[in-house]
Amino acid sequence: MRGRSVEIPSLIQPKTCRTFSTSRYNPGMLTAAIALFALVSAQVRIPDVPFLATPDDVVDRMLDMAKVGPGDVVYDLGCGDGRIVIAAARKFGARGVGVDINPVRVAEANENARKAGVENLVTFRVQDVMETDVSEATVVTLYMLAEINVKLRPRLTVQLRPGARIVSHTFGIGDWEPEQVVTFKDKMGTMRTLYRWTADGKIRP
Ligand SMILES: C[S@@+](CC[C@H](N)C(=O)[O-])C[C@H]1O[C@@H](n2cnc3c(N)ncnc32)[C@H](O)[C@@H]1O
Repeated sequence: MRGRSVEIPSLIQPKTCRTFSTSRYNPGMLTAAIALFALVSAQVRIPDVPFLATPDDVVDRMLDMAKVGPGDVVYDLGCGDGRIVIAAARKFGARGVGVDINPVRVAEANENARKAGVENLVTFRVQDVMETDVSEATVVTLYMLAEINVKLRPRLTVQLRPGARIVSHTFGIGDWEPEQVVTFKDKMGTMRTLYRWTADGKIRP
């Protein structure tokens, strides 16, 4: 099929024809275009936090801190390009769910999971984190803002089973005291702070 050409009538110049070469077909571009169309046409809510990826070496520290293993189910709330749950699946065989309000990010995450060969372990969906059921998660990762973390706290503390770990990049969760805080320089020399909590069955509004 490589290089096969089909003729598509032009809407602009009805009497002429344009040539469309299937050799230029790029599945990644098509996925991005569909996602962009979905975003525009559905008038999806503006994200509460812009996309800023956690560098890969910091992702590794987050997974270590959460003690992720093969039996875990890792939820990344505001998953961006999916790197945290993809790394958990690739390195530890953990199952993962990523949710993001931006369909472009979810399309990227699905494409990245396919490239990493972990589509069988991870799921990405377009969803508001304020509506995500996290009850099956054994690990939740966050890289949102402080006020979003506070808004998520009732949901996290009601739904997570005792023993589930929460690891947040940069931001705390209001006055919920973390059990561990680590500060370090990442590979690029940027200071990073990570926080960890373990769900204990106590509801924190
Ligand atoms: C700072 S990025 C973090 C991305 C990823 N977790 C990481 O650490 O690399 C925050 C992500 O949250 C998403 N987001 C913002 N508000 C959201 C909401 N209310 N519900 C779901 N996703 C949201 C954004 O689209 C963005 O991709």
